[in-house]
Amino acid sequence: SSSPVAVASGAPPGLDAGIQQNLKRAVAKKAVELVKSGMIVGLGTGSTSSMAIEELGKLIAQNKLKDIVGVPTSYQSRVLARQFGVKTVDLNDVNHVDIAFDGADEVDASMNIIKGAGAAHTMEKVVDSIAKQCVILIDQSKVVSKLGLAFSLPVEVLPFALSPVLRALVNLGGVPEIRTALRKDGPVITELGNMVVDVRFADGINNPAELENKINMIPGVVENGLFVNVAHKVFVATKDGEEILI
Ligand code: 5RP
Repeated sequence: SSSPVAVASGAPPGLDAGIQQNLKRAVAKKAVELVKSGMIVGLGTGSTSSMAIEELGKLIAQNKLKDIVGVPTSYQSRVLARQFGVKTVDLNDVNHVDIAFDGADEVDASMNIIKGAGAAHTMEKVVDSIAKQCVILIDQSKVVSKLGLAFSLPVEVLPFALSPVLRALVNLGGVPEIRTALRKDGPVITELGNMVVDVRFADGINNPAELENKINMIPGVVENGLFVNVAHKVFVATKDGEEILI
């Protein structure tokens, strides 16, 4: 097909939570079929990635896969890997990653992506970018015609540089908001010790590649959640249960 992403026609903007869980499980199962024995596997973060880690663990337990090592992108994925019997190593212990699985918050028809709802996008981007194959796992509710209309762009920022970074983000046309903890009693601090700023762009994101670079050029920005030219495949689970391989 000409488009790398098949958008389910008539996809509802929101999905029933139970159905969404089933869809996530379906793509997670489909994705781990790509893993072969001996592979080094990047382990993404979030609920869909967690299911992929669980499914990977099942295949290892059933002896269908041998000599698998996982490279976690967060404390969460490290703990889950341990729980489900997937051995882990640090990224610095390996010289490549064969395949990485990760979730996403928004994906457009050119496989441009917004990630970072879980504040793990910096480590995810490192691991996903170096993977020989990066496979993004989403349900149909994550497919959008334009990035940034419904979802803000997460930006990880050095706490020391928060104020100038906020001003620079405003100069780029964004409306930044410091991400706070659930009870709003303080900022979210990432595993790398930084803060997260969610940036809203009123008209969405017109040029994802350009914006990704411009934001990362701001001194004090660690990484932003735009993933351009990172994904090799996007698995979209649609409501009728059928996974679409893209
Ligand atoms: C974490 C992420 C997640 O992959 C993204 O938020 C999707 O999560 P989920 O699979 O739970 O919907 O980017 O930083």
